[in-house]
Amino acid sequence: MRIILLGPPGSGKGTQAQRLVQRNGVVQLSTGEMLRAAVAAETPIGLKAKDIMASGGLVPDDVVVGIISDRIEQPDARRGFILDGFPRTVPQAEALDDLLKHKHMKLDAVIELRVNESALLQRVETRAAETRARGEDVRIDDTPEVLIKRLAAYRAQTEPLIHYYSERRKLVTVDGMMTIEEVTREIGRILHALGAVDSKASKKAHSAKRAVKKAAQSAPKSASRGRPAAKKAAKGARKAVKAASKAARKGARKAVPGAAKKVTKKRAKA
Ligand code: AP5
Ligand code: MG
Repeated sequence: MRIILLGPPGSGKGTQAQRLVQRNGVVQLSTGEMLRAAVAAETPIGLKAKDIMASGGLVPDDVVVGIISDRIEQPDARRGFILDGFPRTVPQAEALDDLLKHKHMKLDAVIELRVNESALLQRVETRAAETRARGEDVRIDDTPEVLIKRLAAYRAQTEPLIHYYSERRKLVTVDGMMTIEEVTREIGRILHALGAVDSKASKKAHSAKRAVKKAAQSAPKSASRGRPAAKKAAKGARKAVKAASKAARKGARKAVPGAAKKVTKKRAKA
């Protein structure tokens, strides 16, 4: 599976990419996340990108094309990837075409998540509030002021890609105003219809996920039997979930050879 998720800030690209990763054992290539990691690590790319991202503009094409071309080379991307937030300009799309052609790879689809602009601010504000509630750092660009600039950049530089991919018969538009679950289902239906889903990998990733869920559900029952035992049971539950997660990762790796390589390693280099 090789797809692009296209859509304005807050349209659900990251949310859907993660769901596709869990279901299909492919990798998510998010230029936004790679850049944020580079900013946090204060690498030369990060230093270059920091102010641009904070102001809601786009990082230069050559920088993001370089990041993606390195990342696609990694063994874990060989069996499939979801491009989240890349390409964002016509030159980036052209560079991606060249890159894929050179590697004899083909895109299955470009999925556009269409969302009313009026819903985006609410979504971004909710995300910021949830991040804050978890005690984590809120994205510097998740403010109403910067969102307006990110939307302007999307309209001017990214929206032309709708025409670009429509002309190449790659574009499929999904109503991103539906619930998260409904959008996931619709994307799944499209990918199945296109024959873009590796059913073996998808089955294994799915059953591994169910194992994790089962372990998580059964554990709290024992934790509620008695207060003195609760701590011990909770510890056991955490252990069970950890073991099941490990099994899940193993299952996904088996289904998608080479999926073990860590993204973080590359991110730190960026
Ligand atoms: P990037 O990180 O890509 O941000 P973005 O495109 O602005 O998108 P977001 O991550 O804000 O939103 P999303 O679509 O992922 O939505 P999410 O799933 O989180 O880029 C950041 C910056 O990096 C750019 O501004 C630029 O400076 C730079 N950059 C990155 N790539 C670049 C490139 N290729 N070229 C140049 N510069 C680049 O969802 C948002 C919220 O909504 C969540 O809370 C979620 O739970 C909720 N939600 C999701 N779906 C639904 C739904 N269906 N219904 C209700 N709520 C929903
Ligand atoms: Mg995102």
